Amino acid sequence: MVLVNEARRAGETVLLEHRRVGGPLPEPASGVPHPRLSKFHAPEIVFGPNSLPEAAHAAARLGARRPFVVTDPGLAEAGWPTELLAQLRLAGLAPQLWLDVTPNPKDHEIEDGYQRYVAANCDVVLGIGGGSVIDAAKGVALLAANGGRILDYEGIDKIANPIPPMIMMPSTSGTGADVSQFCIVTDTERNTKITIMGRALVPDVSVIDPRLLVTMPEWLNAATGLDALTHGIEAFVSLAHGPLTDHHALQAVSMVNANLARTMHRPDDGAARSAMAQAALEAGLAFTNAILGATHAMSHQVGGMLDLPHGVINGVLLPHVIRFNGAATPERFVPIAQAMGLPVTGAPPEEAVEMVAEAIRALGDEVGVPKGLSALGVTAEDIPRLSQLTLGDACLTTNPRPASADEVADLFRAAL
Ligand SMILES: NC(=O)c1ccc[n+]([C@@H]2O[C@H](COP(=O)([O-])OP(=O)(O)OC[C@H]3O[C@@H](n4cnc5c(N)ncnc54)[C@H](O)[C@@H]3O)[C@@H](O)[C@H]2O)c1
Ligand SMILES: [Fe+2]
Repeated sequence: MVLVNEARRAGETVLLEHRRVGGPLPEPASGVPHPRLSKFHAPEIVFGPNSLPEAAHAAARLGARRPFVVTDPGLAEAGWPTELLAQLRLAGLAPQLWLDVTPNPKDHEIEDGYQRYVAANCDVVLGIGGGSVIDAAKGVALLAANGGRILDYEGIDKIANPIPPMIMMPSTSGTGADVSQFCIVTDTERNTKITIMGRALVPDVSVIDPRLLVTMPEWLNAATGLDALTHGIEAFVSLAHGPLTDHHALQAVSMVNANLARTMHRPDDGAARSAMAQAALEAGLAFTNAILGATHAMSHQVGGMLDLPHGVINGVLLPHVIRFNGAATPERFVPIAQAMGLPVTGAPPEEAVEMVAEAIRALGDEVGVPKGLSALGVTAEDIPRLSQLTLGDACLTTNPRPASADEVADLFRAAL
């Protein structure tokens, strides 16, 4: 009866709609609206120290005979791919190794990897490395089933054919690429990074072994930890956030805040490493479903132009974007401040915004993030082009405050 009365008030069209879908929930007495429709995707996740052998079992289970293992020279030197290859052979498989990936993976590298995959007659794709390796592995899998050039797939849901099974093993505690629906590729002609996005890019299995993190150089640990923090914050304030993503986002913020500096001061602290691996995972689950914001939209342009570490650029930009977004939606920053243990009880939300921005800058100082983009090689002359490119980045669409080219340029200038 309530539903019918509701529908009458709203008109016949709505009533028909309600009948078709079985009727809406009654409005809550509290007056707080029901959350809007949301969905949540995630791979199968295996988490914990010594979990690496699980990747070989997963490959066998997914039908691999000749798995294509993607990695890079830094990982090869650290020794982790050797351990994986041994496990794959133990499982009766014939792995093919490809390690020609560079940081901020380039379009032509991925196309070369695809040729290698075809020539070696492979079936399942494994990536063991940081976000660059994982994105390159996703790019190879995408091309294996769809052909063409990798840049053709820029944008959302451009992937038509189902892609080979993918198993990812992250070696940095930051990008969340092992659980995300993103693949970020450097367009070497335009000197920028493009975003490929779609459900098809969510790996089948993510095997997260925190042991892999101990061989990261200190700067990479700092950079990737700040990337995870940025994912948590941008996902929490994103226009596409929801009840299924918010707790992952806040958990990530809290865990990075409590553990990143600990891993810097005591690199052998296993509990802190595991916490950072979980923080990166929580942040990944949040942002792959809630998407990101202006920090990433701006960071992709700088990273594509100067081939710099993604997390370091984020660490510089994030406090500036927080102040910009906080001017429009200050109340979203109160739970973030609480997750960081900042004393915001009773304070106006605007103070929470400032406290969060300052705390992140202080964390950046503690782990060695430069004060501004100019220390990374960005100049005032670069800003108009960077700002223009930022407007075309998919991540900007979910930023909680709309940003014009002039406003993005102001943010770049403030961060210089
Ligand atoms: N797809 C996504 O969802 C997503 C999200 C965020 C960032 N990204 C992308 O990820 C890339 C950055 O990835 P990243 O920050 O993880 O670093 P990275 O993969 O670029 O690695 C940087 C360097 O560190 C080395 N390295 C990595 N792990 C190591 C380890 N455990 N021991 C020793 N050396 C190690 C690598 O060999 C490499 O030389 C950027 O291209 C960024 O755009 C992707
Ligand atoms: Fe990121």
